[in-house]
Amino acid sequence: MEALKGFKLCVISLLLFLSSTLTQSLSSTELAFDDSEYEDWESNHIPTSEMEEAEWKMVQRKGNQFVVNEQPFYVNGFNTYWLMVFGADESTRGKVTQVFKHASSVGMTVCRTWAFNDGQWRALQKSPSVYDEDVFKALDFVISEAKKYRIRLILSLVNNWESYGGKAQYVKWGNAAAGLNLTSDDEFFSHPTLRGYYKDHVKTVLNRVNTFTNVTYKEDPTIFAWELMNEPRCTSDSSGDKLQEWIKEMAFYVKSVDPKHLVEIGLEGFYGPSTPQRFQFNPNSYAQQVGTDFIRNHQVLGVDFASVHIYPDSWISQSIADTHIPFVKSWMEAHMEDAEKYLGMPVVFGEFGVSAKDPGYNSTYRDTLINTVYKTILNSTKKGGSGAGSLLWQLFPDGTDYMDDGYAIVLSKAPSASSMISLQSTRLALFNSLCSERCHWGCKKKKVLRKVLYHDEL
Ligand SMILES: *[C@@H]1O[C@H](CO)[C@@H](O)[C@H](O)[C@H]1NC(C)=O
Ligand SMILES: *[C@@H]1O[C@H](CO)[C@@H](O)[C@H](O)[C@H]1NC(C)=O
Ligand SMILES: *[C@@H]1O[C@H](CO)[C@@H](O)[C@H](O)[C@H]1NC(C)=O
Ligand SMILES: *[C@@H]1O[C@H](CO)[C@@H](O)[C@H](O)[C@H]1NC(C)=O
Repeated sequence: MEALKGFKLCVISLLLFLSSTLTQSLSSTELAFDDSEYEDWESNHIPTSEMEEAEWKMVQRKGNQFVVNEQPFYVNGFNTYWLMVFGADESTRGKVTQVFKHASSVGMTVCRTWAFNDGQWRALQKSPSVYDEDVFKALDFVISEAKKYRIRLILSLVNNWESYGGKAQYVKWGNAAAGLNLTSDDEFFSHPTLRGYYKDHVKTVLNRVNTFTNVTYKEDPTIFAWELMNEPRCTSDSSGDKLQEWIKEMAFYVKSVDPKHLVEIGLEGFYGPSTPQRFQFNPNSYAQQVGTDFIRNHQVLGVDFASVHIYPDSWISQSIADTHIPFVKSWMEAHMEDAEKYLGMPVVFGEFGVSAKDPGYNSTYRDTLINTVYKTILNSTKKGGSGAGSLLWQLFPDGTDYMDDGYAIVLSKAPSASSMISLQSTRLALFNSLCSERCHWGCKKKKVLRKVLYHDEL
């Protein structure tokens, strides 16, 4: 009975979807980014009805899939780390809206961004537990704008690196404000005072009431997940024990404040001492010594899904080489296999990209990279595997070139990348709409899917 109902839903949504897909794929080939062209789109898509509001539910996890409203939720998304800082300034605020508009015009549904800026210019947290209300309002604005464009956010809570403050800033605070005498930035992970600072930050952010929507962050379905830290590494303890303890404590803490949202760590994905047989997949032999341990770290209670980054140009050689592409494929496949066999959770490739400043770079290489990532995910998706999606590093709106570190993709200037992004969105949206959990991967839709997915014009 339940199964039949599921199957009917499948068929109905297939029909609905095919018609909308056809229109979508036609319009995505035109790729114009004059903002006036978005007006129609906007009036059609900004949710006004109560029904659409009711559908805006929390993303959850069931086994190795994300689900929302009983449907799978595969992710095609992007990173734009500076949204809060841009939102804090009247003159740049419009860029926040613009990047969401552009991203949703190519079907992207998830954005990863920083919910931290510690002690720097336009700091959110000026000193431990002291917040700049204007910057907090800017974060409120980012979340409220994201919802308008049906984009969900992965919010990262602190940086491993010094940009936007990071663990180094927490150590400075410990020395200045608490009179400690800390010399290593990795004390961030182990010193009780700094652990306390971090927890206070978590508590403040998760309990924040959005001044635009009146929705408390921890109740807001616009937030896809909390990320404990951007790219944690703890090189002072290559056994991995120090970081492991921190992850255990903090994942538990986030869940205790907010049991509703998903949690991920923010790791790059290196294999560590618990799995020497997986070292062969690491990009270099240094990777196993940075205090992280992909499988062990992700087995911690409270961690819902795995995160992996993909940067051959930073890990193997800055100079672009054809060997980078097979690395990307095997790196991804190894992690999806782990997520299926040992973790039983979805894996999101939370950052991938290439810098246009790298020696040997050309846009063909970038397209090949994007295509490889997308195809490798689809290969897993088709089998109902753990490959749950990817987030491009990074999407910029027009007129922000001065912020570009080489990795930015401006859709209006990258027609072939835009087409690939649209295509991936369309394909993943098809999976999302066709397959209810109940109808799962075995039902008759499979044949239809195969037809649809292998038609390149789709
Ligand atoms: C701080 O620690 C360093 C070594 O860890 C030591 O040499 C120094 O004397 C300490 N300073 C204070 C003020 O305790
Ligand atoms: C938020 O709450 C305030 C005070 O109760 C109210 O005036 C305002 O209209 C509410 N805004 C929204 C978007 O619900
Ligand atoms: C682009 O770069 C790749 C990798 O370095 C190289 O193999 C390819 O020949 C280049 N293509 C063009 C058109 O320059
Ligand atoms: C898809 O996955 C299968 C088995 O996991 C593998 O043999 C195949 O090479 C993959 N295909 C692509 C295009 O990645």
